Amino acid sequence: MLTDKCIIVGVTGGIAAYKVPDLISKLVKAKAEVHVIMTESATKFITPLSLQTISRNPVISGMFDTPGEWEVQHVSLADRADLLLVVPATANIIGKVCAGIADDMLSTTIMATRAPVVFAPAMNVNMYENPLVQANIAKLKSHGYRFIEPATGLLACGYEGKGRLPEVNTIFEAICGLLGAAKDLAGKTVLVTAGPTREYIDPVRFLTNGSSGKMGYAIAKAARDRGARVILVSGPVNIPVPAGVAHVPVISAREMFDAVVKHYTEADIIIKTAAVADYQPKEKLESKLKKGPGDWNLELERTPDILQYLGEKKGNRILVGFAAETDNLVQNASVKVQAKNLDFIVANDITQPGAGFGTDTNVVKIIYRDGRVEELDKLDKKEIAHHILDRVVNLL
Ligand code: CTP
Repeated sequence: MLTDKCIIVGVTGGIAAYKVPDLISKLVKAKAEVHVIMTESATKFITPLSLQTISRNPVISGMFDTPGEWEVQHVSLADRADLLLVVPATANIIGKVCAGIADDMLSTTIMATRAPVVFAPAMNVNMYENPLVQANIAKLKSHGYRFIEPATGLLACGYEGKGRLPEVNTIFEAICGLLGAAKDLAGKTVLVTAGPTREYIDPVRFLTNGSSGKMGYAIAKAARDRGARVILVSGPVNIPVPAGVAHVPVISAREMFDAVVKHYTEADIIIKTAAVADYQPKEKLESKLKKGPGDWNLELERTPDILQYLGEKKGNRILVGFAAETDNLVQNASVKVQAKNLDFIVANDITQPGAGFGTDTNVVKIIYRDGRVEELDKLDKKEIAHHILDRVVNLL
C-alpha cells in the first residue's frame, strides 16, 4: 500500500511516544521506508534503539551526533521524503515551526522539506486549548501544514479532555489516505456539511431526522485523501471525525448556517450533504415543559436555507447539493438544482433498500443543471464519495 514511500517520523517528547513503535511497525509492514528523527526530550520517553530496530533504519536524534554528516542527512532526507509526520507533536515543536525556528534535526528537516508535513498533537487539554497553541495551529494550517486532531478522553496527566493521541489505526489510515490516492484536489479547499441538525424545543426535547453523517464523512475523507484541505461542518453524529480534516461541530440549522457563512469564502468546492431541519420551534423554552392534560400545539418557523444562500453567493465555486426524496426523485431534485443554483445534485430515494440514512451503501442519481441525469449502481458510500469528487474534478 505504501510501497516505496519515504516517510519521516519525527518524534517529540510526550508520553504518547509509547504508541510510536506500533505505528512505525504498521508503516513498515505496509512497505514504507521509514526514517525516524527524535528530539532530545523524545529520547527520555522511548529509546532510539527501539525505533531503530522497528524502522530498520538508523535513528537521528542529535544534530551533531555524527559530525560532518548531519548537513547532508537533513537535506537529503527532507528532499526524499514523501511525507513528514510529527507524532506525538508537542506544543513546543508546533510553536517552534510556527515561529520559523530550526534549532535541532527535526525542526531543521521540517523547515527544509517540501513534502506534506502532518502534525499529530498530543498534550494536556489546557495546553492544547491555550490560545497561543491554537493560534500557532491555525497559522500553520494556513501555510498548508496538516493536523490530525487529538482525541478526547482521559489524558496521561489525569485530566479529562481533548489532547490524546488518536488510535494508531486512525493515524495510519490518514497517512495511507494522504499518500495513496490521486492528488487531483491538491491546493483546493472543500467545505462539507454533514449529519442532521437538532432544533431544541426545550432543554430535553428536539426535532431532528435520521441522518447518520456517513455520506458526508465519506466525502470529507475522500477529499482529504485526494489532497484537499477539508472543512467539515457537522451536526451531532456518532462517528469519529476523520483525521486530518478541520472539524466544526454544530447543533442547530442556525449554527450550521453561521459556520458555513464563516467558512464558505475559503472554499473552492462546497458539498452539502447535511440533512438540515427546515423548521425550528418558534420559541425555545428555557425549562423543561411539564405535560398537561390536553394536546400540545407546537409552532414552527422556517430555518435559513443554507444552500439557497450559498447559491446566491456562488461565484466560481463548485456547489453540490443532496436531495433526500421519497417521491418523484428526478423531478423534485431537478427543481432544487435550478432553485439553489447548483452545479449538480446527488439525489437519493430514501425508501429504496440500501439507500439513504444510516446505511453503509447508497443508491443515487446525479442531476446536472442542463437536465442530464446519471444513475450510479448501489455502491459503498466511500465509492459514491469518489464518484462525486470525480465529477467535481471534471468541472474544475
Ligand atoms: N439544505 C440547506 N438548508 C436547509 C435545508 C436544506 O442547506 N435549511 C440543503 C441540504 O443540505 C441539501 C439540499 O439543501 O443539500 C436539499 O435538501 P432537502 O432537504 O432535500 O430539500 P429542501 O430544499 O429542504 O426541500 P424539501 O424539504 O421541500 O424537499
